[in-house]
Amino acid sequence: MKTVVRLRVNGDEVEVWVPVHKTLLEVLREDLQLTGTKHGCELGECGTCTVLLDGQPVLSCLVLPIEVQGQEIVTIEGVAAGSELHALQAAFAELGAAQCGYCTPGMILTALALLRTNPAPTRQEVKEALAGNLCRCTGYLKILDAVARAAASLKDGSSYGG
Ligand code: FES
Ligand code: FES
Repeated sequence: MKTVVRLRVNGDEVEVWVPVHKTLLEVLREDLQLTGTKHGCELGECGTCTVLLDGQPVLSCLVLPIEVQGQEIVTIEGVAAGSELHALQAAFAELGAAQCGYCTPGMILTALALLRTNPAPTRQEVKEALAGNLCRCTGYLKILDAVARAAASLKDGSSYGG
């Protein structure tokens, strides 16, 4: 059974005609061509599909679009300001925290939600916030360093903070 779903994604109102069981992850990637949100386990275990829903990280593989009509969805495509990278994106690139990059959108969105509520997190707090986002490449240390660098650059006002 298909239905019309109205979503607010990265500030745009969009309308899609989709099967009711289609996940937000699938709708973002297949119907809205927002392929920055990555398709991983589809079981809620890897974090690659993370998006922000009203500012909170959620696993889009576990969300039905019909449940989130009217809420603000932000994907990795909505994080930069035009050509200006968010401080987190810049720090991930500068410190080599993105290697294959598959986990990176989810990591950045989870870290973004953290920094908005806790602009100066401890390393332990960053680790805890990112605990649901798995990375096969980096060993996590560079990711933790990148979040710390982004927090510092946002504090001194030298980077775009979204
Ligand atoms: S694809 Fe959603 S948690 Fe793995
Ligand atoms: S950079 Fe490859 S999975 Fe994290």
